Amino acid sequence: MTTYSLLILPGDGIGPEVMAEVRKVIGWFQQNRGLSFDVSEDLVGGAAYDKHGKPLADETMAKAQAVDAVLLGAVGGPKYDDLDFSVKPERGLLRLRKEMDLFANLRPAQCFDALADFSSLKREVVAGLDILIVRELTSGVYFGEPRGISADDTPGNEGGRVGVNTQRYTSGEIRRVARSAFELARKRGNRVCSMEKANVMESGILWREEVQWVHDNEYPDVELSHMYADNGAMQLVRNPRQFDVIVTDNLFGDILSDAAAMLTGSLGMLPSASLGAPMENGRPKALYEPVHGSAPDIAGQGKANPIACILSFAMCLRYSFGLGAEADLLEKAVEKVLADGVRTGDLMGAEGGKPVSTAEMGDHIVAALSAL
Ligand code: NAD
Ligand code: IPM
Ligand code: MN
Repeated sequence: MTTYSLLILPGDGIGPEVMAEVRKVIGWFQQNRGLSFDVSEDLVGGAAYDKHGKPLADETMAKAQAVDAVLLGAVGGPKYDDLDFSVKPERGLLRLRKEMDLFANLRPAQCFDALADFSSLKREVVAGLDILIVRELTSGVYFGEPRGISADDTPGNEGGRVGVNTQRYTSGEIRRVARSAFELARKRGNRVCSMEKANVMESGILWREEVQWVHDNEYPDVELSHMYADNGAMQLVRNPRQFDVIVTDNLFGDILSDAAAMLTGSLGMLPSASLGAPMENGRPKALYEPVHGSAPDIAGQGKANPIACILSFAMCLRYSFGLGAEADLLEKAVEKVLADGVRTGDLMGAEGGKPVSTAEMGDHIVAALSAL
Protein backbone atom coordinates (compact mmCIF):
# COMPACT_ATOMS: atom_id res chain seq x y z
CA MET A 1 0.00 0.00 0.00
CA THR A 2 1.24 3.50 -0.80
CA THR A 3 1.83 5.67 2.23
CA TYR A 4 1.61 9.39 1.57
CA SER A 5 3.80 11.64 3.69
CA LEU A 6 2.24 14.89 4.87
CA LEU A 7 3.81 17.76 6.80
CA ILE A 8 1.20 19.81 8.63
CA LEU A 9 2.12 23.40 9.52
CA PRO A 10 -0.89 24.87 11.37
CA GLY A 11 0.74 28.28 11.93
CA ASP A 12 -0.98 31.12 13.76
CA GLY A 13 -4.39 32.53 14.66
CA ILE A 14 -7.18 30.42 13.17
CA GLY A 15 -4.60 28.23 11.37
CA PRO A 16 -4.51 25.56 14.13
CA GLU A 17 -8.31 25.75 14.52
CA VAL A 18 -9.08 25.01 10.87
CA MET A 19 -6.26 22.45 10.62
CA ALA A 20 -7.77 20.43 13.48
CA GLU A 21 -10.79 19.87 11.21
CA VAL A 22 -8.56 18.76 8.33
CA ARG A 23 -7.06 16.19 10.69
CA LYS A 24 -10.54 14.76 11.25
CA VAL A 25 -10.98 14.45 7.49
CA ILE A 26 -7.58 12.77 7.12
CA GLY A 27 -8.58 10.35 9.89
CA TRP A 28 -11.82 9.55 8.07
CA PHE A 29 -10.00 8.68 4.84
CA GLN A 30 -7.57 6.50 6.77
CA GLN A 31 -10.32 4.61 8.56
CA ASN A 32 -12.87 4.35 5.79
CA ARG A 33 -10.97 4.37 2.53
CA GLY A 34 -7.89 2.40 3.51
CA LEU A 35 -5.58 5.30 2.72
CA SER A 36 -2.30 5.47 4.57
CA PHE A 37 -0.84 8.83 5.58
CA ASP A 38 2.38 9.43 7.45
CA VAL A 39 1.56 12.75 9.14
CA SER A 40 4.09 14.95 10.91
CA GLU A 41 3.55 18.39 12.35
CA ASP A 42 5.79 21.40 12.82
CA LEU A 43 5.82 25.16 13.40
CA VAL A 44 5.66 28.03 10.94
CA GLY A 45 5.13 31.77 11.20
CA GLY A 46 4.76 33.44 14.57
CA ALA A 47 4.59 30.08 16.32
CA ALA A 48 8.02 29.19 14.90
CA TYR A 49 9.37 32.64 15.78
CA ASP A 50 8.29 32.17 19.40
CA LYS A 51 10.30 28.94 19.62
CA HIS A 52 13.24 29.47 17.26
CA GLY A 53 13.49 33.24 16.80
CA LYS A 54 12.73 32.83 13.12
CA PRO A 55 9.53 32.08 11.21
CA LEU A 56 10.76 28.84 9.68
CA ALA A 57 13.50 26.63 11.14
CA ASP A 58 15.96 25.09 8.68
CA GLU A 59 14.94 21.60 9.87
CA THR A 60 11.31 22.40 9.04
CA MET A 61 12.34 23.63 5.60
CA ALA A 62 14.22 20.37 5.03
CA LYS A 63 11.19 18.33 6.12
CA ALA A 64 8.96 20.31 3.72
CA GLN A 65 11.34 19.45 0.87
CA ALA A 66 11.21 15.76 1.71
CA VAL A 67 7.48 15.05 2.10
CA ASP A 68 4.89 14.33 -0.60
CA ALA A 69 2.86 17.40 0.39
CA VAL A 70 2.74 20.23 2.91
CA LEU A 71 -0.54 21.47 4.43
CA LEU A 72 -0.41 24.97 5.91
CA GLY A 73 -3.00 26.82 7.99
CA ALA A 74 -2.16 30.52 8.12
CA VAL A 75 0.57 32.79 9.45
CA GLY A 76 0.76 36.23 11.01
CA GLY A 77 -1.00 38.33 13.57
CA PRO A 78 -0.82 41.60 15.51
CA LYS A 79 1.57 40.13 18.09
CA TYR A 80 4.23 40.02 15.39
CA ASP A 81 3.50 43.33 13.66
CA ASP A 82 6.52 45.13 15.10
CA LEU A 83 9.09 42.41 14.43
CA ASP A 84 11.99 43.08 12.13
CA PHE A 85 10.87 42.50 8.54
CA SER A 86 13.31 39.61 8.06
CA VAL A 87 11.68 37.51 10.79
CA LYS A 88 8.02 38.39 10.28
CA PRO A 89 5.72 35.33 10.14
CA GLU A 90 4.94 35.94 6.47
CA ARG A 91 8.64 35.48 5.62
CA GLY A 92 8.35 31.84 6.69
CA LEU A 93 5.61 31.19 4.16
CA LEU A 94 7.45 33.07 1.43
CA ARG A 95 10.59 31.02 2.12
CA LEU A 96 8.65 27.79 1.74
CA ARG A 97 7.18 28.94 -1.58
CA LYS A 98 10.52 30.17 -2.91
CA GLU A 99 12.79 27.32 -1.80
CA MET A 100 10.31 24.65 -2.91
CA ASP A 101 10.00 26.57 -6.20
CA LEU A 102 6.20 26.49 -6.06
CA PHE A 103 5.65 28.78 -9.01
CA ALA A 104 2.05 27.94 -9.88
CA ASN A 105 -0.57 28.90 -7.29
CA LEU A 106 -4.00 27.54 -8.18
CA ARG A 107 -6.84 29.46 -6.57
CA PRO A 108 -10.21 28.12 -7.68
CA ALA A 109 -13.31 30.19 -6.91
CA GLN A 110 -16.48 28.17 -7.09
CA CYS A 111 -19.87 29.37 -5.96
CA PHE A 112 -21.75 26.52 -4.34
CA ASP A 113 -25.43 26.81 -5.18
CA ALA A 114 -26.40 26.90 -1.51
CA LEU A 115 -24.33 30.06 -1.07
CA ALA A 116 -25.37 31.92 -4.23
CA ASP A 117 -27.77 34.12 -2.26
CA PHE A 118 -25.13 34.87 0.29
CA SER A 119 -22.49 36.42 -1.98
CA SER A 120 -22.32 40.19 -1.76
CA LEU A 121 -23.21 40.11 -5.48
CA LYS A 122 -26.58 39.11 -6.91
CA ARG A 123 -27.41 35.41 -7.36
CA GLU A 124 -27.71 35.79 -11.14
CA VAL A 125 -24.15 37.14 -11.30
CA VAL A 126 -22.48 34.37 -9.27
CA ALA A 127 -24.69 31.23 -9.49
CA GLY A 128 -22.74 28.37 -11.04
CA LEU A 129 -19.47 30.33 -10.97
CA ASP A 130 -16.38 28.15 -11.45
CA ILE A 131 -13.19 30.02 -12.24
CA LEU A 132 -9.54 29.27 -11.59
CA ILE A 133 -6.94 31.92 -10.90
CA VAL A 134 -3.39 30.77 -11.60
CA ARG A 135 -1.11 33.13 -9.71
CA GLU A 136 2.66 33.18 -10.33
CA LEU A 137 4.08 32.64 -6.85
CA THR A 138 7.87 32.75 -6.73
CA SER A 139 8.85 35.94 -8.53
CA GLY A 140 7.66 39.43 -9.42
CA VAL A 141 7.58 42.28 -6.95
CA TYR A 142 7.48 39.88 -3.97
CA PHE A 143 11.06 38.81 -4.63
CA GLY A 144 12.62 41.27 -7.13
CA GLU A 145 15.88 43.04 -6.32
CA PRO A 146 16.76 45.75 -5.45
CA ARG A 147 14.45 46.06 -2.49
CA GLY A 148 14.55 47.73 0.90
CA ILE A 149 14.19 50.99 2.76
CA SER A 150 17.01 53.48 2.70
CA ALA A 151 17.55 54.80 6.20
CA ASP A 152 18.40 58.40 5.44
CA ASP A 153 16.60 60.32 8.13
CA THR A 154 19.16 63.11 8.41
CA PRO A 155 17.48 66.16 9.99
CA GLY A 156 16.33 68.54 7.31
CA ASN A 157 16.24 65.81 4.68
CA GLU A 158 12.51 65.23 4.69
CA GLY A 159 11.60 63.02 1.76
CA GLY A 160 15.06 61.43 1.74
CA ARG A 161 13.98 57.92 2.79
CA VAL A 162 13.12 55.62 -0.09
CA GLY A 163 11.16 52.35 -0.06
CA VAL A 164 11.98 50.14 -3.03
CA ASN A 165 10.52 46.95 -4.48
CA THR A 166 11.21 45.69 -7.95
CA GLN A 167 8.79 44.05 -10.32
CA ARG A 168 10.98 41.64 -12.29
CA TYR A 169 10.11 38.66 -14.46
CA THR A 170 12.17 36.52 -16.78
CA SER A 171 10.64 34.98 -19.89
CA GLY A 172 11.27 31.52 -18.40
CA GLU A 173 9.27 32.36 -15.28
CA ILE A 174 6.37 33.63 -17.35
CA ARG A 175 6.42 30.69 -19.74
CA ARG A 176 6.30 28.02 -17.07
CA VAL A 177 3.30 29.47 -15.27
CA ALA A 178 1.58 30.11 -18.60
CA ARG A 179 2.06 26.41 -19.45
CA SER A 180 0.42 25.46 -16.14
CA ALA A 181 -2.55 27.69 -16.96
CA PHE A 182 -2.96 26.29 -20.48
CA GLU A 183 -2.69 22.70 -19.25
CA LEU A 184 -5.36 23.32 -16.61
CA ALA A 185 -7.60 25.12 -19.12
CA ARG A 186 -7.54 22.09 -21.41
CA LYS A 187 -9.13 20.07 -18.59
CA ARG A 188 -11.81 22.72 -17.98
CA GLY A 189 -13.39 25.30 -20.30
CA ASN A 190 -10.33 25.60 -22.58
CA ARG A 191 -10.07 29.39 -22.13
CA VAL A 192 -7.28 31.45 -20.58
CA CYS A 193 -7.38 35.18 -19.82
CA SER A 194 -3.96 36.66 -19.02
CA MET A 195 -3.89 39.81 -16.86
CA GLU A 196 -1.10 42.40 -16.52
CA LYS A 197 -0.61 46.12 -17.02
CA ALA A 198 1.24 46.16 -20.32
CA ASN A 199 -0.01 49.71 -20.80
CA VAL A 200 2.26 51.05 -18.03
CA MET A 201 4.83 48.35 -17.15
CA GLU A 202 7.60 46.83 -19.26
CA SER A 203 7.32 43.64 -17.22
CA GLY A 204 3.67 43.63 -18.31
CA ILE A 205 4.68 43.87 -21.98
CA LEU A 206 7.04 40.93 -21.51
CA TRP A 207 4.30 39.00 -19.69
CA ARG A 208 1.82 39.53 -22.54
CA GLU A 209 4.34 38.64 -25.26
CA GLU A 210 5.55 35.47 -23.53
CA VAL A 211 2.06 34.18 -22.70
CA GLN A 212 1.13 34.77 -26.35
CA TRP A 213 4.30 32.92 -27.45
CA VAL A 214 3.49 29.87 -25.33
CA HIS A 215 -0.03 29.91 -26.71
CA ASP A 216 0.96 30.22 -30.38
CA ASN A 217 3.73 27.62 -30.19
CA GLU A 218 2.36 25.07 -27.74
CA TYR A 219 -1.35 25.59 -27.02
CA PRO A 220 -2.99 27.07 -30.15
CA ASP A 221 -6.12 25.00 -29.39
CA VAL A 222 -6.79 26.97 -26.17
CA GLU A 223 -8.62 30.30 -26.46
CA LEU A 224 -6.39 33.10 -25.14
CA SER A 225 -7.35 36.68 -24.32
CA HIS A 226 -5.44 39.49 -22.60
CA MET A 227 -6.79 42.07 -20.19
CA TYR A 228 -5.35 44.91 -18.12
CA ALA A 229 -5.49 43.81 -14.49
CA ASP A 230 -7.45 46.87 -13.34
CA ASN A 231 -10.15 46.13 -15.91
CA GLY A 232 -9.89 42.48 -14.82
CA ALA A 233 -10.76 43.47 -11.25
CA MET A 234 -13.81 45.32 -12.52
CA GLN A 235 -14.86 42.47 -14.83
CA LEU A 236 -14.53 39.96 -11.96
CA VAL A 237 -17.20 41.88 -10.10
CA ARG A 238 -19.31 42.83 -13.14
CA ASN A 239 -19.54 39.45 -14.83
CA PRO A 240 -17.22 36.84 -13.29
CA ARG A 241 -18.62 33.93 -15.29
CA GLN A 242 -17.02 35.30 -18.47
CA PHE A 243 -13.76 33.77 -17.15
CA ASP A 244 -12.50 30.20 -17.11
CA VAL A 245 -8.78 30.31 -16.20
CA ILE A 246 -7.07 33.60 -15.30
CA VAL A 247 -3.27 33.68 -15.31
CA THR A 248 -1.53 36.59 -13.68
CA ASP A 249 1.52 37.69 -11.71
CA ASN A 250 2.25 37.35 -8.02
CA LEU A 251 0.83 40.66 -6.75
CA PHE A 252 -2.15 40.97 -9.10
CA GLY A 253 -2.98 37.33 -8.35
CA ASP A 254 -2.92 37.98 -4.61
CA ILE A 255 -5.36 40.87 -4.92
CA LEU A 256 -7.64 39.39 -7.59
CA SER A 257 -8.03 36.12 -5.66
CA ASP A 258 -9.19 37.92 -2.51
CA ALA A 259 -11.75 39.75 -4.67
CA ALA A 260 -12.81 36.44 -6.23
CA ALA A 261 -13.33 35.03 -2.74
CA MET A 262 -16.31 37.26 -2.13
CA LEU A 263 -17.98 35.91 -5.27
CA THR A 264 -18.18 32.56 -3.48
CA GLY A 265 -19.68 34.01 -0.30
CA SER A 266 -16.66 34.20 2.01
CA LEU A 267 -12.89 34.25 2.14
CA GLY A 268 -13.34 31.22 4.39
CA MET A 269 -14.33 29.18 1.32
CA LEU A 270 -11.28 29.56 -0.93
CA PRO A 271 -8.65 26.79 -1.07
CA SER A 272 -5.35 26.86 -2.92
CA ALA A 273 -2.61 24.61 -4.22
CA SER A 274 0.94 25.83 -4.80
CA LEU A 275 2.73 23.53 -7.21
CA GLY A 276 6.24 23.18 -8.56
CA ALA A 277 7.48 21.33 -11.63
CA PRO A 278 6.81 17.57 -11.76
CA MET A 279 9.49 15.53 -9.98
CA GLU A 280 10.84 12.13 -11.03
CA ASN A 281 7.72 10.39 -9.70
CA GLY A 282 5.60 12.60 -11.95
CA ARG A 283 4.09 14.52 -9.02
CA PRO A 284 4.93 18.15 -8.24
CA LYS A 285 6.36 19.48 -5.00
CA ALA A 286 3.32 20.98 -3.37
CA LEU A 287 1.93 23.07 -0.55
CA TYR A 288 -1.78 23.42 0.14
CA GLU A 289 -3.28 26.28 2.10
CA PRO A 290 -6.46 28.30 2.38
CA VAL A 291 -6.35 31.71 0.66
CA HIS A 292 -7.34 33.46 3.89
CA GLY A 293 -5.00 34.57 6.66
CA SER A 294 -4.86 34.06 10.41
CA ALA A 295 -8.00 36.17 11.00
CA PRO A 296 -6.88 37.72 14.32
CA ASP A 297 -10.33 39.26 14.81
CA ILE A 298 -11.95 35.84 15.31
CA ALA A 299 -8.97 33.68 16.37
CA GLY A 300 -9.43 31.49 19.44
CA GLN A 301 -13.21 31.77 19.39
CA GLY A 302 -14.18 28.67 17.42
CA LYS A 303 -15.80 30.85 14.76
CA ALA A 304 -13.52 30.22 11.78
CA ASN A 305 -14.85 28.47 8.71
CA PRO A 306 -12.65 25.40 8.11
CA ILE A 307 -13.96 24.77 4.57
CA ALA A 308 -11.14 26.59 2.74
CA CYS A 309 -8.58 24.46 4.55
CA ILE A 310 -10.59 21.25 4.05
CA LEU A 311 -11.00 21.99 0.33
CA SER A 312 -7.24 22.60 0.17
CA PHE A 313 -6.81 19.03 1.38
CA ALA A 314 -9.17 17.93 -1.43
CA MET A 315 -6.78 19.64 -3.85
CA CYS A 316 -3.93 17.73 -2.20
CA LEU A 317 -5.72 14.43 -2.77
CA ARG A 318 -6.17 15.36 -6.43
CA TYR A 319 -2.86 16.97 -7.37
CA SER A 320 -0.32 15.29 -5.10
CA PHE A 321 -1.77 11.80 -4.73
CA GLY A 322 -3.79 11.40 -7.93
CA LEU A 323 -6.85 10.49 -5.82
CA GLY A 324 -9.43 12.29 -7.94
CA ALA A 325 -12.38 10.19 -6.75
CA GLU A 326 -11.56 10.88 -3.09
CA ALA A 327 -11.17 14.60 -3.84
CA ASP A 328 -14.57 14.62 -5.57
CA LEU A 329 -16.10 12.85 -2.57
CA LEU A 330 -14.74 15.42 -0.14
CA GLU A 331 -15.98 18.29 -2.30
CA LYS A 332 -19.40 16.65 -2.49
CA ALA A 333 -19.48 16.30 1.31
CA VAL A 334 -18.83 20.04 1.65
CA GLU A 335 -21.54 20.77 -0.90
CA LYS A 336 -24.01 18.54 0.97
CA VAL A 337 -23.36 20.19 4.30
CA LEU A 338 -23.89 23.63 2.78
CA ALA A 339 -27.06 22.44 1.01
CA ASP A 340 -28.30 21.19 4.41
CA GLY A 341 -28.00 24.78 5.65
CA VAL A 342 -25.04 24.28 7.99
CA ARG A 343 -23.24 27.63 8.30
CA THR A 344 -20.32 29.11 10.17
CA GLY A 345 -20.73 32.77 11.14
CA ASP A 346 -19.05 34.13 8.00
CA LEU A 347 -21.75 32.42 5.90
CA MET A 348 -24.72 33.84 7.76
CA GLY A 349 -26.85 36.16 5.66
CA ALA A 350 -29.39 38.74 6.72
CA GLU A 351 -31.87 35.90 7.27
CA GLY A 352 -29.99 35.07 10.49
CA GLY A 353 -29.97 31.64 12.11
CA LYS A 354 -27.55 30.00 14.47
CA PRO A 355 -23.99 29.57 13.26
CA VAL A 356 -22.09 26.36 13.96
CA SER A 357 -18.59 26.37 15.43
CA THR A 358 -15.42 25.46 13.54
CA ALA A 359 -15.42 21.99 15.14
CA GLU A 360 -19.10 21.41 14.43
CA MET A 361 -18.60 22.28 10.78
CA GLY A 362 -15.77 19.72 10.64
CA ASP A 363 -18.00 17.10 12.30
CA HIS A 364 -20.80 17.76 9.80
CA ILE A 365 -18.40 17.30 6.89
CA VAL A 366 -17.06 14.03 8.30
CA ALA A 367 -20.65 12.82 8.85
CA ALA A 368 -21.51 13.76 5.26
CA LEU A 369 -18.50 11.75 4.02
CA SER A 370 -19.93 8.70 5.75
CA ALA A 371 -23.42 9.39 4.45
CA LEU A 372 -22.48 9.81 0.78
P1 NAD B 1 -7.43 37.51 6.88
O1 NAD B 1 -7.66 36.69 5.68
O2 NAD B 1 -6.76 36.88 8.03
O3 NAD B 1 -8.85 38.10 7.38
C1 NAD B 1 -9.66 38.97 6.59
C2 NAD B 1 -11.11 38.92 7.10
O4 NAD B 1 -11.69 37.65 6.70
C3 NAD B 1 -11.24 38.96 8.63
O5 NAD B 1 -12.39 39.68 8.97
C4 NAD B 1 -11.40 37.50 9.02
O6 NAD B 1 -12.13 37.30 10.22
C5 NAD B 1 -12.14 36.93 7.82
N1 NAD B 1 -11.79 35.51 7.62
C6 NAD B 1 -10.64 35.03 7.08
N2 NAD B 1 -10.63 33.71 7.07
C7 NAD B 1 -11.79 33.31 7.62
C8 NAD B 1 -12.36 32.04 7.90
N3 NAD B 1 -11.74 30.89 7.61
N4 NAD B 1 -13.58 32.00 8.49
C9 NAD B 1 -14.24 33.13 8.78
N5 NAD B 1 -13.75 34.37 8.53
C10 NAD B 1 -12.53 34.45 7.96
O7 NAD B 1 -6.62 38.80 6.40
P2 NAD B 1 -5.95 40.00 7.25
O8 NAD B 1 -6.81 40.32 8.41
O9 NAD B 1 -5.63 41.03 6.25
O10 NAD B 1 -4.58 39.38 7.75
C11 NAD B 1 -4.36 38.86 9.06
C12 NAD B 1 -2.98 38.23 9.12
O11 NAD B 1 -2.94 37.09 8.28
C13 NAD B 1 -1.85 39.15 8.64
O12 NAD B 1 -0.75 38.93 9.49
C14 NAD B 1 -1.57 38.67 7.23
O13 NAD B 1 -0.26 38.91 6.81
C15 NAD B 1 -1.83 37.20 7.37
N6 NAD B 1 -2.19 36.50 6.14
C16 NAD B 1 -1.69 35.24 6.02
C17 NAD B 1 -2.02 34.47 4.92
C18 NAD B 1 -1.47 33.10 4.82
O14 NAD B 1 -0.95 32.57 5.80
N7 NAD B 1 -1.55 32.45 3.69
C19 NAD B 1 -2.90 34.99 3.96
C20 NAD B 1 -3.42 36.28 4.14
C21 NAD B 1 -3.06 37.02 5.25
C1 IPM C 1 -1.66 35.01 0.51
C2 IPM C 1 -1.12 35.98 1.54
C3 IPM C 1 0.39 36.02 1.43
C4 IPM C 1 0.75 36.68 0.12
C5 IPM C 1 1.15 36.70 2.58
C6 IPM C 1 0.69 36.22 3.93
C7 IPM C 1 2.63 36.48 2.42
O1 IPM C 1 -1.73 37.22 1.40
O2 IPM C 1 -1.22 33.87 0.47
O3 IPM C 1 -2.57 35.38 -0.25
O4 IPM C 1 0.76 37.93 0.01
O5 IPM C 1 1.03 35.95 -0.82
MN1 MN D 1 -3.41 37.24 0.00
